Amino acid sequence: MRLDLMKAKIFSGVQPTSVPTIGNYVGAMRQFVELQDDYDATYCIVNQHAITVPQDPAKLHQTTRELAALYLALGIDPKKATIFVQSDVPAHTQAAWIILCTTGLGELERMTQFKDKSTKQESVNAGLLCYPALMVADIILYDAAYVPVGEDQKQHLELTRNYVDRFNQRYGKGKELLVKPEIITPKSGGRVMSLQDPFSKMSKSDTNAKATISLLDDPKTILKKMKSAVTDSVGQVNYDRENQPAVSNLLDIFSAFSGRSIDSLVAEYHEAGYGTFKQAIADSIIATLEPIQAEYHRLLTSSTLDDILADGAKKANQQANKVLARMEKAIGLTYR
Ligand code: AQP
Repeated sequence: MRLDLMKAKIFSGVQPTSVPTIGNYVGAMRQFVELQDDYDATYCIVNQHAITVPQDPAKLHQTTRELAALYLALGIDPKKATIFVQSDVPAHTQAAWIILCTTGLGELERMTQFKDKSTKQESVNAGLLCYPALMVADIILYDAAYVPVGEDQKQHLELTRNYVDRFNQRYGKGKELLVKPEIITPKSGGRVMSLQDPFSKMSKSDTNAKATISLLDDPKTILKKMKSAVTDSVGQVNYDRENQPAVSNLLDIFSAFSGRSIDSLVAEYHEAGYGTFKQAIADSIIATLEPIQAEYHRLLTSSTLDDILADGAKKANQQANKVLARMEKAIGLTYR
C-alpha cells in the first residue's frame, strides 16, 4: 500500500466496570463512531483495567460482552474498525511489564485517577497504581497516532508521550521505534459532571444511581434522574461555570445531545424554569438513546457478536505482537 494512502491509526478503550454513562458517550464513544471513516481505528474493551478494583466475576463476564454489543449498537462498524477484548491479546500485559520497568514510582503516584480511586478503596492493590503502564501499552501496541478520550485521560496521555520519548531516545538509535500519540478530545462535553455534584466527574461506577444516566436507562428513568439533578437557587438558565456549575453542566449535556449551541439554548430556556429545561434535556437524550438501545438488545442475543470479537482479537494480536517484538528486540529480550 502506498504510504500516502495509509490512514493514521487511532486507539481507544472503555472499561466494562458497569454500563457506560452519557459522560463516556459524549467524551469518548461518540467520537469512536465519527472517526472510524477517516482513521484506521482499533477499539478495545479494557477488561484488565477493570480488575484494578474488585469485580464480581460473573458480572464482569457479562458487562464485557454487553459493552461489545454497545460499541456495535452505537455504530462502530467491524468492517471499518477492529473491536476486541483486551484479555484476548496477551501482548498488552507483556508490554506493560516492560513499561513498568522504566517508569518511576513517582510518575505513577502522581496520577490523579490513582489518587481518586485509592482513597475510595479500603486496601489498595498494586494494579491500581500500575494501571497507567497498561494503558501506555494499549496505545503504543497499535502505533496509535491519535487517542480519542475524555479530558480525564489527559494525564495518562502525557505519561504515554513521555514514555515514547524515553524509549525512542534510549533504544531507538535515531529511529522512532514507537509512535508518539496525540490526544483527541471533543470540542464540548469532554468532562461531563455528576448530576448530583457538579464538582465530581460523572462515573459509571458511582454508587449513587441518581448521579449518572446510563446508556441503557429507559425513558422513565432518564426523565426521573434528570428531574432530580441538582441546580441552584438562581432560577434562570445561564452558562456560568463559576456561579451556576450545575446548570452549566446540564447545558453542556443538552448541547451535546441536541447538537445546538449553548448560546441558542440559553436564549430559548433562560426564563423557561428548570422543570421545562430539564424535560427538554431528557427528551433530547431519550431521542438519541432509544434507537441505540433497540439495536443493542438485538445484538446481545445474536452470535455475530462472538464472531466479531474473535475476528477482532485475531487482527489485534497480529498488530500488537509486531510492536511487542519491536520493543523486545530493541531492549535485548530476544536471544534466538
Ligand atoms: N464524565 C465524563 N465526561 C467525559 N468523558 C468521560 N470519560 C469517562 N468519564 C467521562 C471518558 O470515557 C472513556 C472511557 O472511560 P473508562 O471506562 O476507561 O474509565 P474512566 O475514565 O474511569 O470512566 P468512568 O466512567 O469514570 O469509569 P469508572 O467509574 O469505572 O472509573 C475515557 O475516554 C474517558 O476519558
